[in-house]
Formats: sequence, C-alpha cells, structure tokens
Amino acid sequence: MHTVMLAKQKGGVGASTIAREIGVLAARNGQRVVFIDLDPQATLSKWWNRRTAGTTGTPNPALAAVKPEQLLATLSQLAASGGVDLVVIDVPPSVHSFIRRVMDAADFVLVPVRPTSDDFEALPEIVEMIEQAGRRYAFVVTQAPTGRRIRAIDEAISILARQGRVAGVLRFRSAFPAAASAAQVTTEYETTGKAATEIRELWVFIKAELRKIDRAATPALARAS
Ligand SMILES: Nc1ncnc2c1ncn2[C@@H]1O[C@H](COP(=O)(O)OP(=O)(O)O)[C@@H](O)[C@H]1O
Ligand SMILES: [Mg+2]
Repeated sequence: MHTVMLAKQKGGVGASTIAREIGVLAARNGQRVVFIDLDPQATLSKWWNRRTAGTTGTPNPALAAVKPEQLLATLSQLAASGGVDLVVIDVPPSVHSFIRRVMDAADFVLVPVRPTSDDFEALPEIVEMIEQAGRRYAFVVTQAPTGRRIRAIDEAISILARQGRVAGVLRFRSAFPAAASAAQVTTEYETTGKAATEIRELWVFIKAELRKIDRAATPALARAS
C-alpha cells in the first residue's frame, strides 16, 4: 500500500483537484484506492458525495471519514486489510499543526504551486517541513498560463528545480472545474483533452516514484538475488 498526500502553504492551489484526479485515474488503472479528506472545508468529500449519489463516476475510490488524530490507526488498518493499493490524502494548508504528522505517515508528498511569486515565497516553510519529515516529494505547477505564454512556466520550473523536483505541469484549464461540477475528473469528462493528458503525465511520474520507494524498501540481499 502506498500513501500519497497533498501539501500546500495556501488554499486554492489545486490540491483537492489533484487528489481526486489521481485517485480516480489510479482506480481506472486497476488500483484499489481510498481517499482521506482531512480538510475541514471538505472539498474532496463533497465532490465524492455527489459522485457516489449519482451514476457519473465509475470506478469510484472509497472515502474514509477520518479525523487527523485517527489517521495513523486508520492507515495501519487499511494496510493490514491487504485490500488497498493507494491512499490519497487531501489536507488544509500546512499552518494546521497536524500536517507534520500526516507527512510522517506519507510515502510521497505532492506540493501544488501556482507560478506566482506569492506561491514561490510561501514554499520554504513547507519544503523544510517535508525535509524534516524525511519524505520524498515533488512540486506540481498548477494553474499555469495557457497558450504561448510558456516563459512563465519555464521560469517556474527553474525556480522550483532549485528546491526539489517537478512532477508535472497543469495549465489553467476550464475542464478541471467543469469535470468537478459533473462529479467527475478530466480523464472521464474530456478523455482526450489537454487537462486529461496533463493528469496522465503527472500520474506516470507518481507511479515511477512509488516504484522507486518499493525498490528502496526491498532488502539489498533480495534485490541482489
Ligand atoms: N489547473 C487548473 N485550471 C483551472 N482551474 C483549476 C485548476 N486547478 C484547480 N482549479 C480550480 O481552482 C479552485 C481551487 O482548486 P482546489 O483544488 O479546490 O484547491 P485547494 O484544494 O488547493 O484549495 C477550484 O475551483 C478548482 O476547480
Ligand atoms: Mg482543497
């Protein structure tokens, strides 16, 4: 079982969007996925409730209603059940004191960042927190300008590359909120659209990271044989 969490310094960066997009894509790829929504604003849970009430969203990951203080116990139960491949944890901004404890329980941390100086200036705190927790992490550029204005994206990537790795770039695309209002994700709503393509590329990066974590966890002896 792998645990991927979102982490962010500010609201509105696209964390819940990424959580539901990668959760559904993983489920579509045959993984048994559980969402955990630790954000009191409950964006992920509200979307999930609409999706679950309707007929639009299959496959549908499960949603575990968990309070932050129950997280560790819930994750051990899910792992012990042998029935879960991926847990995706959505969170409020990292000013909440429990975020560090979520990091301690995560295999991989995704940090959505808009390509603005305000977002860049907020990064050192969260990067320091992740590094203290000793977790693997990567940034995702979100809500990046579309069209030919790629200079802002190149600049963002080079700023972020000084502090970590970049897992992917999501441009500002109306398909993200449109899919969400239809209780879907972009890979369902507009299967061959640009947003869906960006999400698939992001998922390829995350999958490769999770494989690296598995390899790192394999004892050297077993790897050698
Ligand atoms: N790449 C994107 N392009 C366009 N709109 C986006 C994108 N990512 C997120 N949004 C929209 O921005 C708003 C905030 O996104 P959300 O995922 O809820 O952020 P967070 O969870 O970080 O607060 C939502 O209305 C969402 O649909
Ligand atoms: Mg959110």
